Amino acid sequence: MDRGDKNRNQEGDIFAKGHARDLGVRAQACVIDTPVDPCTVVIFGASGDLTARKLVPSLYNLYRNHGLPNRFAVVGCSRKTWTREDFQDAMERAVKEVEVGDTSKWSEFVRALAYQPVTYDSLPSYEKLATVLRETDENHKTEGNRVYYLALPPSLYQTVAEMLGQAGLSVEGENGNGWSRIVIEKPFGRDLETAVELNQTLHKSFKEHQIYRIDHYLAKETVQNVLVFRFGNAIFEPLWNRSYIDHVRIIAAETIGVEHRAGYYEEAGVLRDMFQNHMMQLLALTAMDPPSLFEAERVRDEKLEVFQALRPLNLDKIDEDLILGQYGPGRIGGEKVPGYREEPRVSSDSVTPTFALMRVFLDNWRWQGVPFYLMSGKRLARKSTEIVIQFKQVPHSMFRPVLGEHIAVNRLTLGIQPDEKIKLTFQTKNPGATFCLRSVTMDFDYHENYAGPRLDAYEKCLLDCMQGDHMLFWRQDAVELSWSFLTPIIDQCEQCPDPGKRLRFYASGSWGPLSSDELEQFIS
Ligand code: NDP
Ligand code: BG6
Repeated sequence: MDRGDKNRNQEGDIFAKGHARDLGVRAQACVIDTPVDPCTVVIFGASGDLTARKLVPSLYNLYRNHGLPNRFAVVGCSRKTWTREDFQDAMERAVKEVEVGDTSKWSEFVRALAYQPVTYDSLPSYEKLATVLRETDENHKTEGNRVYYLALPPSLYQTVAEMLGQAGLSVEGENGNGWSRIVIEKPFGRDLETAVELNQTLHKSFKEHQIYRIDHYLAKETVQNVLVFRFGNAIFEPLWNRSYIDHVRIIAAETIGVEHRAGYYEEAGVLRDMFQNHMMQLLALTAMDPPSLFEAERVRDEKLEVFQALRPLNLDKIDEDLILGQYGPGRIGGEKVPGYREEPRVSSDSVTPTFALMRVFLDNWRWQGVPFYLMSGKRLARKSTEIVIQFKQVPHSMFRPVLGEHIAVNRLTLGIQPDEKIKLTFQTKNPGATFCLRSVTMDFDYHENYAGPRLDAYEKCLLDCMQGDHMLFWRQDAVELSWSFLTPIIDQCEQCPDPGKRLRFYASGSWGPLSSDELEQFIS
């Protein structure tokens, strides 16, 4: 092969030499970034659902894909009087149940699993835990570095954080500790006031750089891709503003109902459960300006600007911008399912919303006048999370003598899940003698040409926390702005004399409480 051939890429384009080199560099950079510091992951709530279904399977998957540090340990803690073997057996069953795939490495991984019973509000219990953790450090050479993961009901977050502080486990570089990080599961409070209070308690024991507030949506591959798509390409960003975009729809539709979480959900409802966190993050990623560098604080600063620009809803006319619904009985995938009020542990006259559609505006230069429609609901027709960018009509239709005024608009869809796709619809001429247009779609499947290991959202969160990377975690100022926007809306809906009056019921398996005409009217 001569020198010239070596420099040609597959299309034979000699000018693509630099491009081919870039691809090589990127491919190398795409292997799992193994955390360098050894550490122990301490899971509180180790007997619970999240630990069994997500945390331990994720840790195991990281282990078998070489994503854990060389020296690591996991210590499960809960009130259950399990032995180490009981915990290991329960976790083995859990991992097999969620079908992680290859379990051949379990017998190696399990050696790192230990268990320590704790009483969440008892200081001696944490002092005992501190001793166990020091022994773990010695046995596994984990150098006192620890992630404390609170897989617990939110009512226990403050107690556990305070106890860790009092037992000397939160301080870094003392008492045999290396670094020390705490992971808080959502929800961070149930309104602005409780979110501030939770934060104040956390800060009694932990500094901000030690706190990781999880939003598993941020760790989804396709969600991470939103910024890459927007700011890694030159051709979309010039159009990404009020001059070209008519409106944006952010949809998170689920087919599942409340499942076994009625106790929590009855108190939360869809606005706290999905809007305060996941929907707000999707909005921020879609609307934010580019930071100067892809670095955690700069990205989080730009998101903050979006939350600062949120225009408060007019509470006197809230029904113009907000539709709330609750699922009734119906069918999902051909199976009969009960209505929300018939679910176990749900009150028979519950007014908790399971569906919301909200119109929001951002008061800034880029987005003035562009409505963002946020919609999320349980027991809808199909599971689908997507961000749809609807562009404006062409400014002038030169085809009007043949086609009339209307030409279908361009639409860009960022499929988050389960369709992990990017789709762009545009107009082409229909082949043939008659002159007419047709809408066609160009699409990209996110996993095309990729066969490497994929990180589940919880794997990514755990990995980033072990690496000390805050990029995909909430910062407190953003949490507070998100609550500042939503708390008055929630109060207005919950604290009125008749909280059920704006609730509209929909059949499970439908697309929510609005007819297609009503929906069109809401969006127009
Ligand atoms: P669980 O209800 O399974 O509770 C976890 C553990 O906490 C239990 O095993 C129990 O352990 C302890 N616990 C539960 N209730 C009490 C109580 N009243 N007093 C003292 N201890 C209690 O919760 P999950 O694992 O489902 O969720 C944990 C956290 O993760 C929550 O904040 C949840 O919002 C969040 N989350 C969960 C998801 C999931 O899919 N499960 C998804 C997203 C977030 P023991 O009694 O043995 O001490
Ligand atoms: C959780 C909510 O945060 O997200 C659940 O508490 C919801 O109610 C879930 O079902 C949706 O997550 P995913 O990843 O399935 O879209």
